[in-house]
Amino acid sequence: MQRKSGRLLLASGLLAALVGAAPAWAQAEADAASVARGKRLFMRCAACHEAVAGSKLVKTGPNLHGLFGRSAGALPGYQFSTDLKAAGFVWDEAKLDAWLVKPTALAPNTTMAFVGMTDAAERKALVAFLRSLK
Ligand code: HEC
Repeated sequence: MQRKSGRLLLASGLLAALVGAAPAWAQAEADAASVARGKRLFMRCAACHEAVAGSKLVKTGPNLHGLFGRSAGALPGYQFSTDLKAAGFVWDEAKLDAWLVKPTALAPNTTMAFVGMTDAAERKALVAFLRSLK
């Protein structure tokens, strides 16, 4: 009797682990798809931005590799607008999302001339892609 209930417990534990793991796989897959979509969407930024670790190539805009956790307008070697330098925030998901909607909402006189992205899913994918670059 004792052994039987033990086995039952083990079986239900395994089942719980499997059921618990399934959404994690699904989530990882969704994240990977989002990053891949964001990478494609980055074509819209690539005319002005690189996203390459340590690159010193100066395009119209700054290198966006390692953006998350960095202060706005602070990448050494790039000549930012005084407005973005003075903005005084650190890049995170919410800030980048807002920036993609309308850069001038965060820095009124920014030199990034950009038609905002109205599609929230596109912004989310781009955020996921840039966040994946560490
Ligand atoms: C036409 C050129 C151009 C395009 C296209 C463009 N940017 Fe920019 N971007 C700039 C410039 C110029 C700056 C510097 C702004 C300043 O100093 O005020 C900038 C700044 C930024 C910054 C601030 C970086 C920092 O270190 O503070 C982010 C983030 C950014 N761009 C993201 C993007 C993303 C994502 C896209 C594509 C959806 C994009 N940009 C498209 C020109 C562009």
